Amino acid sequence: MAAVFESEKDIEGLKRIGGIVSDVLQFMVNAARPGMTTRDLDAIGAKQLKDRGAESAPILTYNFPGSTCISVNHEAAHGVPGQKVLKAGDLVNIDISAALEGYFGDTGASFVLAPRADNPKDQELLELCDATRAVLKAAMGVVKHGTPLNMIGKTIDSEARRMGYTIIRNLCSHGVGRSLHDEPKEILPYYNAKDKRVLKKGMVITIEPFVSTGADWVDALDDGWTLVTSPKYRTAQFEHTMIVEADGVSVMTKDILQPK
Ligand code: CO
Ligand code: CO
Repeated sequence: MAAVFESEKDIEGLKRIGGIVSDVLQFMVNAARPGMTTRDLDAIGAKQLKDRGAESAPILTYNFPGSTCISVNHEAAHGVPGQKVLKAGDLVNIDISAALEGYFGDTGASFVLAPRADNPKDQELLELCDATRAVLKAAMGVVKHGTPLNMIGKTIDSEARRMGYTIIRNLCSHGVGRSLHDEPKEILPYYNAKDKRVLKKGMVITIEPFVSTGADWVDALDDGWTLVTSPKYRTAQFEHTMIVEADGVSVMTKDILQPK
């Protein structure tokens, strides 16, 4: 059973950690520069989390070899911070989840590093990011008490297709709140008639569509973590943590802006 979050204390706790992961994410997005390694960028995030008293959830939960996940270009998720040097035009995804006082928040965003207005490839990637934001927003729009949980996936899939993109079918949204991956688990990004679960007031979930220029699947690299598509595709992800309400959602995380 999914935990129910309705007390003032719970809502305050989730808001606090949601604010922290969002602020640290925007800080990292703004700090990213060509020439920096993903390890350098992760170190910036690690310090920001520590300064705010929060603990990296991937370390806490999975002993992940980094404080944040940084995925570049055809890496879609769970990229391990390391020696990879960032360059202008890279599509970068940073996903931050963290815990404070027993509450977990989870957020993610993709951005284009130092995009140029006269570079069509950069502009295509910015469009992919905007489309992914729109898919997330559409999926959040169907969430409220009593909605079948599989409406989230149905909306993600249909909105992505409508805009000419594909979705990664083996990356899911999930319950969060008291742990990083909580009930309801495996919220698929497409319609599954067999899934009879229903959204309930007080549930805390993430929605995190992975919208792609053509891929529909990720595989793990030999490092056991990094999830990649075929090199010819690019995939963006945006993620919010939210509480299901009677008539919609209360969003615990903040929108992340693409730096100019
Ligand atoms: Co995440
Ligand atoms: Co997540």
